[in-house]
Amino acid sequence: MENRPDEWKIEQGLTGASLPVLDMTGPETRAIPPAEVQKEFKDEDAIKAVGDPNELFQMERTGWKGFVEWEEYPEKKAAAHKILTSQSFPGAPEYQMTEIPATNPLLDGERWKLWHSAIGGELTVVPNDSWKIVLEEKHADMLHILQFPYNGEPPKRLVTSKPVTPNPLHFVRNHGGIPIIDKQNYSFLLDGLVSHPQSFTLDELMDETRFPRMKKHVTMQCSGTRRIEQITRYPGKGDELPQAPWAEGAIGTAEYEGVSLKKIIKACGGLIDDGKHLEFFGADTYFKDNECMNYRVSVPWSKVKANEVMLAWNMNGEPLPKIHGYPLRVVVFGYIGARSVKWLYRIKAINAPTRAPVQSKEYLYFPQQVGKYNMRLTDGIQIQEMPVSSAIMSPWTKQVVIHEGSIRCKGWAYSGGGRWPERVELSADGGFSWYTVPPENLSKKRKWTWRTWEFDLPCDVEGWIDVLVRCWDNALNTQPPDVRTAWNWGLHVTSSCHTINLYSVNKKHPATRARLEDMERNQVPLAPITVPLSIPSQSWDDYEKFWRKHDPRDADED
Ligand code: MTE
Repeated sequence: MENRPDEWKIEQGLTGASLPVLDMTGPETRAIPPAEVQKEFKDEDAIKAVGDPNELFQMERTGWKGFVEWEEYPEKKAAAHKILTSQSFPGAPEYQMTEIPATNPLLDGERWKLWHSAIGGELTVVPNDSWKIVLEEKHADMLHILQFPYNGEPPKRLVTSKPVTPNPLHFVRNHGGIPIIDKQNYSFLLDGLVSHPQSFTLDELMDETRFPRMKKHVTMQCSGTRRIEQITRYPGKGDELPQAPWAEGAIGTAEYEGVSLKKIIKACGGLIDDGKHLEFFGADTYFKDNECMNYRVSVPWSKVKANEVMLAWNMNGEPLPKIHGYPLRVVVFGYIGARSVKWLYRIKAINAPTRAPVQSKEYLYFPQQVGKYNMRLTDGIQIQEMPVSSAIMSPWTKQVVIHEGSIRCKGWAYSGGGRWPERVELSADGGFSWYTVPPENLSKKRKWTWRTWEFDLPCDVEGWIDVLVRCWDNALNTQPPDVRTAWNWGLHVTSSCHTINLYSVNKKHPATRARLEDMERNQVPLAPITVPLSIPSQSWDDYEKFWRKHDPRDADED
């Protein structure tokens, strides 16, 4: 066998995707090469036989652009399935065992776009329409993790620039395209196990003589927040949408206005029979395993009964942006963002958690020894409340920091389930000693939100240090120290202490101060840290002076 030009990188595990699998079950170890790319095929006749997509997948309701109702129409689902299985599509891109592209958007979602155009009809223009909305509604500096379906987070410097996130900077997590819905034509249906199923328009919901208003600051957090830390430690399930490589920005806080879902259920005469869960339907189309479906999840009645589920039409005093669910979304306080369904078109009271794939096949927290080859869905805990977590937004890992004994740090801390950050601590020595952020350096305490913080972290070291943050919530829960303890096959819930490595340049040390002044005089650049200095580290005079005063290098015998 001959070496490849990248042999060294392969041997060092830097291009793991191209490694053969070693099968050691026989007397000899066998190398099984990575699978060949699937052959392209397209059965035009089979696709044509399905019918005209403009009739099959037409606009569901006047004024609801990009909405196809799948859940009540098995024949439509079957037609879409036939189209999707009668041709090949590109596989999921590899981004975990190779370098992540240096582009923005990071991943483009090519196969999601192709799936939409393959189905056609109302879905044809959805990818283009959705991207236009991203450009209209989101901040120009957003980091586009996936172009379509759109997933984006603000850059670190803007994540915690305000304790309440401005709408253009709020992260977005979409499983499909953005349906464009007219307010005038909007209503949703509440049915299933309720006494009197009914439809509600937005005007009806907003009628304060019927339903009291509710305004609440709520932090929305995706369970994939900080996934990149798990990916860089060990790869896991890799599908560019369900497992998007989020950093620390998939979290945001807004003031939502709407009504408590409990009141609406009451207006329908309450739950009947064995009604225990509320299932929410979103008007977007999600593709999974060659099936088309609407985004669908559920929450228990106990959560609704506690007035912790809102139907919201305003976000930070403005109508919901289209990308965040206009005209109406669900906001479930203290649960993962996945349960807060956008573009709500139906609520159904049911007797058990929904079997819809987003609930039953995704957002599962597996134990560590469960993975690709032994995983059963029932091994995973369905993630609802998020555990306590925190992150450092500034400085950034691998950064060189010049300071005079303390390093200015900024970040966020959050706990789900109605618990809140009570104490935030930082360590500059890898987690041995911890300093408490003074309470006045934390943003306002609220039951359902994060707290942003700032802190001058004492540090005496010269050289590389590991800076960690951890939060204690009001129930005294805290975070495990290492990402290894949080790692799981689905790469969810990175709850371990966020750790960054910094090169500390401490001007309190006379030698460091003198060298920095020397560099400034000689106009020697500071970065990068690895480039050797072009000025001598010590004068020969100084060197000789030292040896005149001190014992020589080697000791004499007496
Ligand atoms: N609702 C619909 N209809 N479709 C979606 O893809 N994504 C969910 C949730 N609601 C989603 C949805 C997920 S996983 C999250 S984290 C939140 O929306 C994100 O809300 P945001 O995009 O407003 O920040």
